[in-house]
Amino acid sequence: MDIREKIVKLKKEKKAIVLAHYYQRDDVQEIADYVGDSFYLAQVGKESDAEVIVFCGVRFMAESAKILSPDKTVLFPCYTEAPCCMEYMASPEEILQYKEKYPEVKVVTYVNSSSAVKTVSDVCCTSSSVENIINNLDSEEILFVPDKNLASYVQEQVLNKKIIPWDGCCNIHDAIKVSDIERAIDENGKDLVIAAHPECKKNVRDMAHYVGSTSGILNYVKKSSSKRFLIVTEKGISHQLKKDNPDKEFFFLPMLCKAMKKVFPETILESLETMNGEIIIDDETVTKAAKALNNMLLFSKPRGE
Ligand code: 13P
Ligand code: SF4
Repeated sequence: MDIREKIVKLKKEKKAIVLAHYYQRDDVQEIADYVGDSFYLAQVGKESDAEVIVFCGVRFMAESAKILSPDKTVLFPCYTEAPCCMEYMASPEEILQYKEKYPEVKVVTYVNSSSAVKTVSDVCCTSSSVENIINNLDSEEILFVPDKNLASYVQEQVLNKKIIPWDGCCNIHDAIKVSDIERAIDENGKDLVIAAHPECKKNVRDMAHYVGSTSGILNYVKKSSSKRFLIVTEKGISHQLKKDNPDKEFFFLPMLCKAMKKVFPETILESLETMNGEIIIDDETVTKAAKALNNMLLFSKPRGE
C-alpha cells in the first residue's frame, strides 16, 4: 500500500477526516477530504460527524477546530512549531486592560490569534466573514485584534461604525510593497488582473482589481473572463487556482508562509497511526473561547437572514 492508501484505510478505521487550508503543500491538499479557507474549515470541522479531525494548517486553525468540537479528537500532524505570526501579536492581559478602560467597545478578533486571546473576545471573524460579523454586531465601536490591515479594509466596507485597529499584521502579506506589484506588471504585462488578500497594506490593496479571502480570490478568478492574473497572497493557493482554471495563467510574488508548510503526507499518516499531535486545551479556555468562535458562525450570515 502507498501512503495515500494507508491514510484512506486509517481514516475509515478511526472515523477521521482530513482538513487542509489552501496554503498547504500540494500533496497535502490532494490527500485532504476538504480544502478551504479558514472560515469554511472551521464550519466543516464543527458540522462533521467524524470522530477524529486531522487538521493541516497552522496551530490556531487546529485549536479552533478543537474548541468548536471539544468532543472530537483533533490531530495537528506537525511536529515542529507551526504558529501563525499573529498568534503572538496580542495578549489577553492587554485586551482586558483595554476593555476595562473602554467597556462600551466590542472586541472582534481575527481567528488568526491565540486561543487565550479568543477567551477575552466578543466574537471572532475570518477575512471572508468579517464584514457580515461587524454589520451584525450590536455596537458602533469595535476594537479589531490583531490585524491592522484587515481592520482598515473592513473600515472601508463598513462606514457607519468605528473600527479601532490593534497594531499587528501578517508579516508575509504586510511586506508586499507597491513597487513589488509595479515590477510584476512591468515584467509580465499591463493586462494582469490583480487579486489581493485583505491582509495586505492599503496602498497594495488599492492597486488590486479584487480584494478578498483565499476562497474569495478563487471564486473571483473562476468567474472572470480574463486570462492572466497576479495573485497577491501566499503561493500555496496556486494549487487550487490551477486545478480550477487550467486555461488561465498565474503570476505570484515571493510570498511563503513557512508555518503552513510543516505538514506532509508522512506526518498525516504517522499522526493517524499513533494519534500523535493531539490538540489538548484546558476546559476553561475551551468554554470561554468557544463563545467567540460560535458567535463567529452565528453572526456570519448577511444582516437580516
Ligand atoms: P483565509 O481565511 O482567507 O483562508 O486566510 C487565512 C490566512 O491565514 C491568510 O493569510
Ligand atoms: Fe498567518 Fe500570514 Fe501565514 Fe496566514 S500567511 S497563516 S496570516 S503568517
